[in-house]
Parts: sequence; structure tokens; C-alpha cells
Amino acid sequence: MSEPAFVPYRPYVPDASAEEASRRFYEVMAKRRSVRMICDRPVEREVIENIIRAAGTAPSGAHKQPWRFVAVQDPALKRQIREAAEAEERELYYRRADEAWLRDLRVLGTDEHKPFLETAPWLIAVFKLTMDDHPGAGSTQVYYINESVGIAVGLLLAAAHHAGLVTLTHTPSPMKFLARLLGRPEYERPYLLIPVGYPADDCRVPDLERKPLDEIMVVDR
Ligand SMILES: Cc1cc2nc3c(=O)[nH]c(=O)nc-3n(C[C@H](O)[C@H](O)[C@H](O)COP(=O)(O)O)c2cc1C
Repeated sequence: MSEPAFVPYRPYVPDASAEEASRRFYEVMAKRRSVRMICDRPVEREVIENIIRAAGTAPSGAHKQPWRFVAVQDPALKRQIREAAEAEERELYYRRADEAWLRDLRVLGTDEHKPFLETAPWLIAVFKLTMDDHPGAGSTQVYYINESVGIAVGLLLAAAHHAGLVTLTHTPSPMKFLARLLGRPEYERPYLLIPVGYPADDCRVPDLERKPLDEIMVVDR
């Protein structure tokens, strides 16, 4: 086995103190919302490439990068995805979801209709890789897949928001139809479907509050 190679670490130095930089970043991120009213204003492919590049900088178990981002812009494909997703959502709302689930969903005002899957200029279908298919990979094994892909998606959402775009983290479950419609191999498993675009002019979002810091952070025991 060859010796591991090392290079000098080049740190990122913010243009402000850590206090100031962290506060500014928090203030930007606090404006992120899940948006379900997305208009058809185009988004350049380069923007989508950049946010996927940003997602691809995520850490991953043993650096296996077990993710694939399928960017969909073809209207016919988006329509097929919408139809399949709405079929799953009808199942959810009218059969699968129990009372508690439906009650939790009520505050969001969502239903089985998903027009944003067609109006958004891009849908990013995220797949998790259950096998490392990278040429030259040490082995085909992958580790901590869900954690790794979850972090990558977090970066993707932050990057889209940073670029002034809106997203929805969508989970029309089960999502097997995505692999079928997008022709993905068996070892790629659908993880999330993320419409990306600009908000509609009359866009509204649920009036939600986020947990305060003292509820989500504990210092020492
Ligand atoms: C894993 C995950 C799955 C989600 N699935 C859906 C979904 O299928 N449909 C939907 O409208 N929103 C979905 N959401 C969005 C949440 O409802 C939303 O993040 C939450 O209500 C908080 O709102 P905010 O993102 O605007 O802060 C999902 C979010 C996450 C993280």
C-alpha cells in the first residue's frame, strides 16, 4: 500500500473577525425558507453547476463522496416527475399518513399538488451511492452514506440561498420513480428532490418559528 500524500493546508480567512463573520453568515442563513411557490424565471446552468460544486465540497466518510446530483431542466421530464410525485403524494395524504402526520403537515398548508415541480427551472434529484463507482477507488465500499449526503445537501441549500435562489427539500416518498425516470443504476438510491429557482411574485411561506438557541444548544452537560 502506498504512503498517504499531504499538502500544506491553505486556510480560509474571513474579511471580518470570527464574531462578525459568524453573525453575518447566521443572518444570511436565517432568511432561508423552504419555498413552494417557484416561478419559471430561468436560472443559468452555471449557477446550478456552482451550487452542486459547493455540495461536492462536503466531508464524507472515508472521502467516498457517495452522492450524485441529477440536474433536470427538460420540461417533459419535469412533467413526468411531477405526475409520479403527485401520485405518491395522493397515497400519502389519503392513505399512508396517520392523524399525527397530517396534523403536523397542516401548519405547512401543503397538499398533494406539486406545481413547483414543473414551474421551477431546475429540479436537482439527489441520489446516495451505495457503492463507490469512482475509477481508481480503493474499494467499492461506502461509509456513513446518510450523514455524508445530508451534509452535502446542507451545503447545496446554503449555496443556492447564497446565490439568491430558493429551494424546497422535497421527499415524495417512496421515490423509486426518480431512479426509473432518470435512468439511474440500482446502486444509486433516491435521497431528496430539490426544486431550485426564484420565488413567485406572490410567494408566501408558512409562518414558522425556529427553536431558540437555548433549546438547541447545550454547553457542557
Ligand atoms: C428531510 C426533509 C424532508 C422534507 N420534505 C418535504 C416535503 O416532502 N414537502 C414539503 O413541502 N416540504 C418538505 N420539507 C420542508 C420542511 O417542511 C421545512 O424545512 C420546514 O417546514 C421548515 O421550514 P423552512 O425550511 O422554511 O425553515 C422537508 C424538509 C426536510 C429537511
